[in-house]
Amino acid sequence: MSFHTEHITAAPVLVHRHEIDSTQQLAADLGKDGSPHLSCVVADIQTKGRGRMGRLWVTYPEDALACSVIIRDQPQTLPLLIANVLADVLEVFCKDKMGIKWPNDILHSGKKVAGILCESFTDKAGERFYVVGTGININTPQERGDMPAIALQDIAGKAFSREEILQEYLSALFSALEVHSQEGFKAFYKDYMARCQTIGKKVRWPSAQGEKYGIASHLDETGSLVIETETGQEVCHSAALIEDL
Ligand code: BTN
Repeated sequence: MSFHTEHITAAPVLVHRHEIDSTQQLAADLGKDGSPHLSCVVADIQTKGRGRMGRLWVTYPEDALACSVIIRDQPQTLPLLIANVLADVLEVFCKDKMGIKWPNDILHSGKKVAGILCESFTDKAGERFYVVGTGININTPQERGDMPAIALQDIAGKAFSREEILQEYLSALFSALEVHSQEGFKAFYKDYMARCQTIGKKVRWPSAQGEKYGIASHLDETGSLVIETETGQEVCHSAALIEDL
């Protein structure tokens, strides 16, 4: 079934491809050439989609939504902000609560519904910009090797339109970025923490001294995870590998 771009009015620039290697790659290339803040690339099929920690994120038509948005004013807590926005939107569609695995996996019943990848690039004018990639399991869950998967259809018992979800997600994202620029992440902190399922869990992550273990304690003001270890507190940044045990 084709994708109707005319239904997506939220993005100032929308590029749709039927098949692509990765929407992240095209969005990064467009951003380097000066494509504006909030430009969006969406594809039906991704053959070399990028997941976090170098994982492959292949997307099949009708099963999932794969999109990447260019963000030119970046809050430090962008990965957390995006997760909170997406959880809000998916809760409305599914009429059920979503959880977040720090920093930005969206979960339902302990399974992954959606993943988010935030990457930074520099454009030809030397300005830094960010590409936020989002993959949502809409009608079929794809197991991607990090954790069990679930789709919106499994949760709500009905199929969803990718266009409708993209339109709502982009509108919510753009409004949240506005609020964030006025009030900062504190406007979203309570909601994020209510959803965050990582706090209090045993976690592990790699460090220069080898793998470390601890209990996730809280988030600092930058959104990094503070972990209690046997030798004191450690801070884990969102780019690092972190897993619940
Ligand atoms: C994760 O590993 O959880 C993050 C997955 C992010 C996948 C999305 S799909 C759209 C965009 N294009 C990509 O190549 N990756 C992201």
